[in-house]
Amino acid sequence: MYALARSLLFALDAEQAHQLTLATLRLSHRLGLLRLIAPAQPEEPVELMGLTFANRIGLAAGFDKNASCVDAMGALGFGFVEVGTLTPRGQPGNPRPRVFRLPKARAVINRMGFPNEGAQVATRHLRLRRYTGVCGVNIGKNAATPLEQATSDYVAALQMVYEFADYVTINISSPNTQGLRQLQEGEQLRPLLQALLQTREQLAERVGWRVPLVVKLSPDLSSDELAATAEVIRELQLDGVIATNTTLDRAAVAGMRHADRPGGLSGAPLRERAAGVVRQLRAVLGPDLPLIGVGGVSSAADAAALFAAGADLLQVYTGLIYRGPGLVRELVAADAAARRKRRAPTRHNRS
Ligand SMILES: Cc1cc2nc3c(=O)[nH]c(=O)nc-3n(C[C@H](O)[C@H](O)[C@H](O)COP(=O)(O)O)c2cc1C
Repeated sequence: MYALARSLLFALDAEQAHQLTLATLRLSHRLGLLRLIAPAQPEEPVELMGLTFANRIGLAAGFDKNASCVDAMGALGFGFVEVGTLTPRGQPGNPRPRVFRLPKARAVINRMGFPNEGAQVATRHLRLRRYTGVCGVNIGKNAATPLEQATSDYVAALQMVYEFADYVTINISSPNTQGLRQLQEGEQLRPLLQALLQTREQLAERVGWRVPLVVKLSPDLSSDELAATAEVIRELQLDGVIATNTTLDRAAVAGMRHADRPGGLSGAPLRERAAGVVRQLRAVLGPDLPLIGVGGVSSAADAAALFAAGADLLQVYTGLIYRGPGLVRELVAADAAARRKRRAPTRHNRS
């Protein structure tokens, strides 16, 4: 079924296709159709960061930027849905066209630059959501805000979304907002995270609950840079890490149509790089720090590899463009089977 829908969608500009997909998902949900294709959920939920996840498969940030489709994505069977990136003030993002498909590589290049209606508008949608699963909110800075004032944007966005988020992702790894990735460097990262942690304490006192804060990292950090970033995260006791965002590296798609477009590459060519980052983070951060793996997952085997690298949960985006909702079914079913298998008594522990 999706093969047919896909050939229609692929005839459109990638961003138009995405808008049409969101509208179709919302309508299908209203008509009760998504229930019919949703996978059975695993028997036991997963507890992480004080939250309860129905399964370990989530929707990555960028798909539902304005939180206008949370109920529909939840109905597709995701264990968690991350919305955003949201900035304090709405902004148009970069000029179009800004999303390109590379079907040969099962990849996408995007340079969207956080187009969104602003955190306040999104909170109105979040307030009305019916989805009872975990909903993360990804925040960033406005393009017009100088990098030196980035902290005030992140603090403002955190204040706006706090009450409506199950966790908040601090996005410092998009390649499409000038200078943003510099915020991952220790010297800049420490004061930014300290300010956000302090704001979180104030909000927790006011609101009455503590929302986990996680940081989303780039796959393009060198091993030393990643170790330094991880050290700051460990020292400040962030609640988790998401790895990774899109890559600037084009080696895997060299010579293909659109390969030279500026922006971040996602999908299959990112898979091994993202798994490598997850593996290194797991080694540096130890067994307990929650890690959400993302990058190039488009099959149960890819998901298993990312879990084996050390991810506790994972997210998908580009795989959905190429595989459709069947991917969610496949991943959730594989997750349920893997966890059932782990729980099943073996010859050894039965005796
Ligand atoms: C069109 C598009 C827009 C994206 N927008 C965002 C965003 O706003 N914030 C963010 O943190 N990540 C964004 N991402 C990155 C994804 O969340 C994810 O980290 C990345 O695509 C790798 O996963 P994938 O290979 O499964 O797509 C975007 C990705 C794509 C393809």
